[in-house]
Amino acid sequence: MSEAFDRMLDLARAALANAHAPYSRFRVGACVRAASGRLYAGCNVENASYPVGQCAEASAIGAMVAGGDRAIAEVVLVTERAEPCTPCGRCRHQLSEFARTDTPIHLCGPEGLRQTITLGQLLPLAFKLGDP
Ligand code: THU
Repeated sequence: MSEAFDRMLDLARAALANAHAPYSRFRVGACVRAASGRLYAGCNVENASYPVGQCAEASAIGAMVAGGDRAIAEVVLVTERAEPCTPCGRCRHQLSEFARTDTPIHLCGPEGLRQTITLGQLLPLAFKLGDP
């Protein structure tokens, strides 16, 4: 775990507090650390048209790309569920666009770290094109 972990957790918790999740009532906060060291947070943003909703990881990745970064070194995910919550399949693939198989993903609750897993464990044999 990096020395940035505590700051990442704080940012992810703050993003979770701002989540727009009136339909599922399941709030998610995410923070990605770019290889540059910059931190980008995001929350889930639901919609009355349910499939239009956006996951927290996608929000954080969008902020990272808009900020000019392209490489994810570490991820923090926070939910309020009792057990560790892993990223959904779509988010795994979105992470795989910018992260490596050994990139750590820290699954956290409001109280702190619960489990750390790598992207490769979550999404082995990810689909990849050659360098775009
Ligand atoms: N959600 C995320 O934000 N990230 C995930 O990886 C899993 C699910 C959100 C989507 C929806 O707003 C709520 O959690 C319930 O599925």
